[in-house]
Amino acid sequence: MELKIIKLICFRALYIFEGWRGRKGSRQRATEVRIDGNESRGRTLKLMISTDFAPNEELDDALLSLKLLWQPWRWKTGKELNELKKVLFPNLNVSLFLTGRSALFHLLKTMRLPKNSEILIQAFTCEAVVLPILANSLKAVYVDIEKKTFSMNPIELERRIGPSSRVVILQHTFGLTPAQRAEIHSVVKKHNLVLIEDIAHGYNKDKIADRKSQIGNSYLLMSFGRSKAISSVFGGAVVSQKPLTINLNMPSKLFIFRALLYKPLTYFIKKTYYIYLGKIIHKILLKLNFLIPEITTKEKGGNFDHWLDKAYPNAFAILLLNQLDKLSRAQKQRARTVSLYNHYFSGNSYEGALLRYPLLIANRNQIIAKLAKKNIFLGNWYEQVVAPIALNLDRVGYKKGNCPVAEELSKKIINLPTNISLKEAEKVVKTLNDVL
Ligand SMILES: Cc1ncc(COP(=O)(O)O)c(C=O)c1O
Repeated sequence: MELKIIKLICFRALYIFEGWRGRKGSRQRATEVRIDGNESRGRTLKLMISTDFAPNEELDDALLSLKLLWQPWRWKTGKELNELKKVLFPNLNVSLFLTGRSALFHLLKTMRLPKNSEILIQAFTCEAVVLPILANSLKAVYVDIEKKTFSMNPIELERRIGPSSRVVILQHTFGLTPAQRAEIHSVVKKHNLVLIEDIAHGYNKDKIADRKSQIGNSYLLMSFGRSKAISSVFGGAVVSQKPLTINLNMPSKLFIFRALLYKPLTYFIKKTYYIYLGKIIHKILLKLNFLIPEITTKEKGGNFDHWLDKAYPNAFAILLLNQLDKLSRAQKQRARTVSLYNHYFSGNSYEGALLRYPLLIANRNQIIAKLAKKNIFLGNWYEQVVAPIALNLDRVGYKKGNCPVAEELSKKIINLPTNISLKEAEKVVKTLNDVL
C-alpha cells in the first residue's frame, strides 16, 4: 500500500519535472526527435542510453529498493528466497549465491575433481568464468568459437579434449542459443564429460526448459548481476537435477545496504545525466568508492575474490521477483529492438530477446568514444578473449594465438543496448551511421 502511494507521488513528480523539461527543450530545439506513445510526456531523446549502466532499472525497482532500505529484518532471510527458486525453475533444484562466480566456484568444488583436471571453456568470455576454475586448482582449457553465435565450436572442442578433461562450460553468449548446441551435447556425451550451460547472459526459454533435449550430467549456471537480463545488483544460481548442499555466510548488512542503494541511485543518475546532475553524482560516487564494483581490484589482478563468494540475501530475492514479474514485457522489448537492428544492419539475422546486440566494426574504440560524447554508451563484451582488458592473459593461462577466431572478434566487437525503446534504438543506429 505505502509503495503504491510513494509510486504515485514519484510518478507525479517525474511527470511535472519531465513535462517542464520537455516544454523547455522544445522551445530550444524544435527539430529534436521525440518519443511517441506512452513514453512521450515531453521527454526528449537526450536521455542517457547505455548498454552497461543499469539497463534494467525502472522507477518501480528503485522504489522497491528504497522501501527495503527501511526493512532490515527482511534483508538476510525470508520467504522470498524459496519463492524465487520456484519461479525460476519449478521442477529443478535451484541453489542461490551472491554471484554467478560464486555459484560456479561451489559447483566445481562439489565435483571433487583431481588437481589440474581440465575444464573446457570458450575464449571470448570473462574472468568471472575463469577465476572460479583456477581457484579450485583446476586448469582452464580454451576452445575457439564460431562466428555466428560467438559460442564454442564443436570441432575445436573435440580437438582440445584430453585424458584430464572433465567438464565443458557452454556459454550462451549475449543470450544467443549456441549455433551448434546439439553437436556440443554429442561431444560431451561421447567423452562422458559433465556439461555446465552458462546462461548468465540469458537464454531461449523453450530450448532450455526442454529437459528431454538435455544430457544426464548437466547443470545450468545463472547470473543476476547488474548488467544481466534480470538483475538484483548481485546474484547467481546453479540449477541441478539433484539438490546441492552448500552453506555460505551472508554478506554483511553494510554490503546489502550499499547494494540496495544501487537501483535508486543509478535510476536517478540515468534520468538526470544529460542535465549534468547525474554525471556529477556518478563521478562523486565513483570517487568515494560508494557503489560496490561489479569486478573487484583483486579479480582484475587475476585472483578469485571470496568477498563476493557469499549466500544470496532475501532482499535481493525480493528485487529479482519484481524483475521476473515484468520479464515478459522486457523480453518482448528486447526482441523488437533486435529485429530493428537486424533491419538496419543487413546480413544480421539474430533472433529473440538478446541481452546485447553484437556488431563488428573496424575502429571500435574511436566509435565507442564518439558515441559516449553524445551520451550513448555502447558495450564492449568481450574486448579481450578473457575480459576485462586489465586482466593479464598469462595469469589465466591463455596463450596468444590459441583461439584465433575469438581474438579477431574481440578486436572488432561492440554491443548495442536492447532494453530500450524503438525510438532510442533508431537514435543509436542513426548516431552510429553518422560517425562510421
Ligand atoms: C558468461 C558469464 N558467465 C558467468 C558470469 C558470472 O556472473 P557474475 O557477475 O554474477 O559473477 C558472467 C559475468 O558477467 C558472464 O559474463
